[in-house]
Amino acid sequence: MKTDNYSEKNREAWNEAASVHKKNRKVDYSVLFKNKDYSMLDTTLSSLLKKISLSGRTVAQLCCNNGRELLSIVNTTGATGVGFDISDEFIAEASVIAKSANLDCRFVRTNIYDLNTEYDNTFDLILFTAGALTWFHDLGRLFELVGRMLRPEGYLVVYEIHPFTNLLALKEEPAYEAKNPYKIVYRYFRNDPWVSDTGADYIGKTTYKSKTFTSFAHKLSDIITAIGSNKITIKEFTEYPHDVSASLESLEKDKIVPLSYTILGQKSKK
Ligand SMILES: C[S@@+](CC[C@H](N)C(=O)[O-])C[C@H]1O[C@@H](n2cnc3c(N)ncnc32)[C@H](O)[C@@H]1O
Repeated sequence: MKTDNYSEKNREAWNEAASVHKKNRKVDYSVLFKNKDYSMLDTTLSSLLKKISLSGRTVAQLCCNNGRELLSIVNTTGATGVGFDISDEFIAEASVIAKSANLDCRFVRTNIYDLNTEYDNTFDLILFTAGALTWFHDLGRLFELVGRMLRPEGYLVVYEIHPFTNLLALKEEPAYEAKNPYKIVYRYFRNDPWVSDTGADYIGKTTYKSKTFTSFAHKLSDIITAIGSNKITIKEFTEYPHDVSASLESLEKDKIVPLSYTILGQKSKK
């Protein structure tokens, strides 16, 4: 398999996380998606997507996990979906949900970096959500691919964890101080990866001794430059005080620091 080493390790760690999520998930998406109005998207993402006409369009989500967000779009807009994720287990789960709800959506297990030219000029919308960009060391390479996969005038939507949050310690980390959760403990200008073995249970919010996850901190300027260098114009960039990581919700009420952001981009005509 053509892939990089850290992604293969991440694949194993995400496969392990899938069984933890399954155990801790309180809802059954195979049942929920039988309701043709069902969507689990929050109002921020739903409102942003309403700006794009999606009926009959083809939507891709990169790092789609178990497909719940992409399936929400397909279920409520009449779009067709293709979800991509490196985890065998999450892709299997997503495929079962799509089949049982009879939704026009298929799922592909792959390292995004291993995609070649097979999806060039295919999608009217490409979506990244909470905790997707951090798995890629080179955003230029990622958005070069996105720029190719979009059709001319196709849209890019990013709804992500704000890079500012990389400065703060999470509750389970030794550096965390309950009395001062805004204490800056990490560098914004960080080149070394994050390496973690405390799991990825943002569903049950538990920690467990896990296989190793390796991820990367990106500056906002890296993200904007990578998008803008690949024939995609940024139409809207919005920062929010609400959390999408499921680990910094306690800071939302203060509205002091940005916890999430959205980007709406559009590929040029030619
Ligand atoms: C934090 S989850 C995304 C969560 C998603 N927003 C949700 O709420 O379901 C990150 C996903 O990225 C996937 N992933 C990590 N590295 C990847 C890679 N190189 N290629 C494709 N998927 C990857 C993982 O398997 C995982 O499902």
